[in-house]
Formats: sequence, C-alpha cells, structure tokens
Amino acid sequence: MELNNQCIYLIGFMGSGKTTVGLQLSEELGYSFKDLDQEIVKNTGITIPAIFENVGEAGFRKIEKKMLKELNEPHCVIATGGGVVENEGVLSWMNENGTSIYLKAPFEVMYKRIQDDRNRPLSNQGREALSLRFENRKSMYTQAEVIIDTDGKSVDEVVVEIFKLLTKDRNL
Ligand code: S3P
Repeated sequence: MELNNQCIYLIGFMGSGKTTVGLQLSEELGYSFKDLDQEIVKNTGITIPAIFENVGEAGFRKIEKKMLKELNEPHCVIATGGGVVENEGVLSWMNENGTSIYLKAPFEVMYKRIQDDRNRPLSNQGREALSLRFENRKSMYTQAEVIIDTDGKSVDEVVVEIFKLLTKDRNL
C-alpha cells in the first residue's frame, strides 16, 4: 500500500461513516475533501431525494458515475455514496485512478444511523429490503483495495489506522 498522490475513495454502505472519516482523514493527510452526494446536489441544484423522485434510481446512478469521474484530482479524499459500486465498471475505475477503501461495519450499526434519515431515499425501504441490499453489495465492496473493519472503533481510531496504512512507506 502506497500513497501515490491519487484520489482516495471511501466506499461502504449508507451509515458506514464515509463522510465523517473522509473529512478527518483528508485533514490528517493535507488533502482536499469532497463528498460525492454533496457535489451532486451542488452541481444539479436538486436534492438527492428529488433526483430519485424525478429520474429514479437508475437516473441517479448515471449522474453519480459522471460526477465521480469529474471529481478525480490528485491529493483528494472522496466520500462516495453507498450505491456507487452498483455502477458498472466503477470499482475497477476507482482502483485504476486511485485507492479504494471499504469501511466495513455491522448492518445493525448502520441501520440505526440511517433508519429515520429523510435525506436518504432508500433508507425508508424497511429493514429487510435494506439488509438484502447490503448483502447484495458485499461482494462489490470487498473488491476494494483496502478493507477497514470499523466495528467497535472510534472515528479517530479508524482514521489513524488508514493514515498509518497509507503513509507507512513514507518513512522507510
Ligand atoms: C445511496 C447512498 C447515499 C446516496 C443515495 C443512494 C445508496 O449515500 O448516494 O441516497 O444507494 O446506498 P450515503 O452512502 O452517503 O448515504
């Protein structure tokens, strides 16, 4: 694992901590930080729930994929949306253009964080549907270059773990 000045992509299910961890990690590394959902809202002028209402999930995925590619720049940490991996070819693209890091967390922990969130159009689908979605995505998430198990760890601990992994070759 080597910090090659490319983008760092945080991936993982809704509520896995991508935005919180990403922001703090970018500060530690002295990198810029972008949240893919926030960039989509900025760029389109429409909220995520409204995009889902207007063009559906498939339409959202197209916007998401395009925006992800536009955000690519050196020295950048990007918190992606939980479903970015459902875009065909995106995982291998991230691995070619940067480093993908999967924040792995137990479903129950993530579910508690997202269940009442009105800004996440998929989070009100109910427990069973969400759990199934998570199960279906696991094999995609685990294709990340790095997998970080966040279970029982604080944000600080997760950030330090990633920071050490990314910078360990610098001191050789
Ligand atoms: C989605 C996750 C959301 C957002 C959209 C769809 C998903 O991002 O992109 O609501 O399909 O898992 P977060 O993972 O930041 O909640």
